[in-house]
Amino acid sequence: MSKESIIDDSKPNAGRMYDYYLGGNHNFEVDRQAAEQVIKLMPFAPKGARLQRWALQDIAVELTEKRGYDVIVDFASGLPTNDHIHQLVPEGTTVIYSDYDPVVVEYAYDILGDTPNVYFFEADAANPEALLSRPDVQKILGEKKKIGFVLWGVSAFLTDEAIARIARYTYEWAAPGSCLVFNAQGADLPQNETLDRTFQIYERLGAKFHKRSLAQFRDLLQPWSVDQDFVSLLEWHGFDESELDTEDLRMIGPLAGGYGAYLVK
Ligand SMILES: C[S@@+](CC[C@H](N)C(=O)[O-])C[C@H]1O[C@@H](n2cnc3c(N)ncnc32)[C@H](O)[C@@H]1O
Repeated sequence: MSKESIIDDSKPNAGRMYDYYLGGNHNFEVDRQAAEQVIKLMPFAPKGARLQRWALQDIAVELTEKRGYDVIVDFASGLPTNDHIHQLVPEGTTVIYSDYDPVVVEYAYDILGDTPNVYFFEADAANPEALLSRPDVQKILGEKKKIGFVLWGVSAFLTDEAIARIARYTYEWAAPGSCLVFNAQGADLPQNETLDRTFQIYERLGAKFHKRSLAQFRDLLQPWSVDQDFVSLLEWHGFDESELDTEDLRMIGPLAGGYGAYLVK
């Protein structure tokens, strides 16, 4: 598909709005206007997006340098800009990104060019077999099945069935010793009118927001077992609060960041 045919700049796109929060330039006026609507309701949205990406950078280092994985498979990756996983991992690490949005995928090709060992595929995270059984992905992986999987910044937009399916399929597919790093977004959210209005903006873009408890997330993620239990992103390793004020801290933790955990097989 040519870029002209897939990029519709007449309506906002959630992936490009996220890029705007992160200060990127892969967005259009229509995205910036919708993002500004969200920022009006939730002034901390850009900081929340940065917090999520910052945790992802920490994960890239933890998975490779501390836990020894040399293959990372990331679902619902968003744009692989210069704050994403591949920039932080040691040379030679294979990074397989994916996203179901063809706009994001097309931009991703532009951003990555022919960066060695880094790949981007169009794939729905809710259907992990579609990515993992692709002949080109199998060729990249060869015999390797000990994988660091990442599902970050997207769980609030996935149904219960999708999360349970991803957990089961990746667990059964992967070799023992594999890991799933999971971000429980929207967990234990307070009832709040501003949040509800924000969710309505996203729903109009076709992205329904699911609220759940951490206990529900734990159930959905079986049979993976918890290695490093869920911690709020505000307590994530090395987190620096200096950029956030009191209101940010009250809202950002449960909403934008939620909780993150390392699960293992
Ligand atoms: C908020 S961004 C998160 C990007 C990145 N994982 C991060 O944490 O920075 C959400 C991305 O998930 C993608 N997405 C949403 N639902 C998806 C699904 N079912 N399968 C694949 N990608 C999905 C969107 O297109 C968007 O690019």
